Amino acid sequence: MDKLLITGGGPLRGEIRISGSKNSALPILAATLLAETPISLSNLPHLNDITTMLSLLRCMGVNVTVDERMRVEIDASTIRCYEAPYELVKTMRASILVLGPLLSRFGEADVSFPGGCAIGSRPVDIHLRGLEAMGAHIEVDGGYIRARAPDGGLRGARFLMDKVTVGGTENLLMAAVLANGHSVLENAAREPEIVDLANCLVSMGAKIKGIGTDRLEVEGVSSLKGCEYSVMPDRIEAGTYLCAAAATRGSIKLKDTHADSMESVLIKLQEAGAELEVGENWIRLDMHGQRPQGVSLRTAPHPAFPTDMQSQFMAMNAVASGASKVTETIFENRLIQVHELNRMGANIALEGNTALITGVERLKAAPVMASDLRASASLVIAGLVADGETLIDRIYHIDRGYECIEEKLQLLGADIRRVAG
Ligand code: UD1
Repeated sequence: MDKLLITGGGPLRGEIRISGSKNSALPILAATLLAETPISLSNLPHLNDITTMLSLLRCMGVNVTVDERMRVEIDASTIRCYEAPYELVKTMRASILVLGPLLSRFGEADVSFPGGCAIGSRPVDIHLRGLEAMGAHIEVDGGYIRARAPDGGLRGARFLMDKVTVGGTENLLMAAVLANGHSVLENAAREPEIVDLANCLVSMGAKIKGIGTDRLEVEGVSSLKGCEYSVMPDRIEAGTYLCAAAATRGSIKLKDTHADSMESVLIKLQEAGAELEVGENWIRLDMHGQRPQGVSLRTAPHPAFPTDMQSQFMAMNAVASGASKVTETIFENRLIQVHELNRMGANIALEGNTALITGVERLKAAPVMASDLRASASLVIAGLVADGETLIDRIYHIDRGYECIEEKLQLLGADIRRVAG
């Protein structure tokens, strides 16, 4: 199993390109099931989760062609089966996103029930209740969600999500675009990735109003066609590199990224003392060699501070001046990185879903273990600011969400390499 070896040192400096968004690409790949003619997608990141989603489409009989620039053409007209098997769903929970499209276009779907994961129990009850409101009959049998549309297909419905859910909003939106009649999704998630999915669906011929708001109105259409679509830049990848630069007192420029999808993160970086400059598709951060200030934050649905950036800020706070408080409100077990950071000399106490951080001057290298995708990113940041060599084990978690992380950090001057273990 590969490991990452990082020798902590000086500030990150330089320029890198941000990849396409994983969390936008996954639902858009699921949405290709809705189109009657081929869809061509560009700016897909080169990541294990994307490969898993492409394998899932292929195992249903969908025709997938990938060219050398990772532009992917997907033709769902060759589909033969409507099942997402356990072997694939267990490696990637986002496989649940094929449920809505399969059910609305083909009237049936058998999707392995996703289990919990390291960061929490992660139920899918809202996805299922929303589909039932559209007339679906759903049974859980043998570990599978077996869903069937009524005769004549799903019916448009008004559905209020009692909790803001990103995946639930995406699944129900993809079901509603081909349902008969009008749907209203209330208390919808507003994450930029949902806007990206909705814009792609509109390019395919869907009729959606309220994009970017918490009330999505959909007028079902009888069919959708293929289109060409470029996936948005990954705001979490961008935020991770900015955080790493702030923690190391560096100065970096990110290309192919959009500052307007990252407002809450940029505000916190400024509060930490970063000077920011933004252009149409770039962001520059400069710490002027200064140590960051600790910043307190609380995660919540968009446009508030994203849970996917919480652990990276905690790593920065661990070496910042002053005390700070980080509260996680989305997932019940998402402060797991605290124990590994403390093994590296951080001073972090846990009180329920809040971490109380007292910044220290430097961390000390130690062998550590990645436990989930974003927690792993915090260990990389910690390794960059630690004295000595940090060896991070189980980096398959990192590879699920960060394209070429060691190459990009090397471009920024970091001493990091992958070692076979
Ligand atoms: C997505 C993102 C993930 C991000 C998360 C929150 C993808 C592939 N993943 O995950 O990176 O951390 O949004 O921004 O886009 N919940 C229920 N019932 C449901 C659905 C969700 O109780 O039916 C709960 C979850 O357990 C969690 C909260 O709602 O506590 C938010 O989860 P959700 O927004 O659905 O996260 P995902 O879509 O799984």
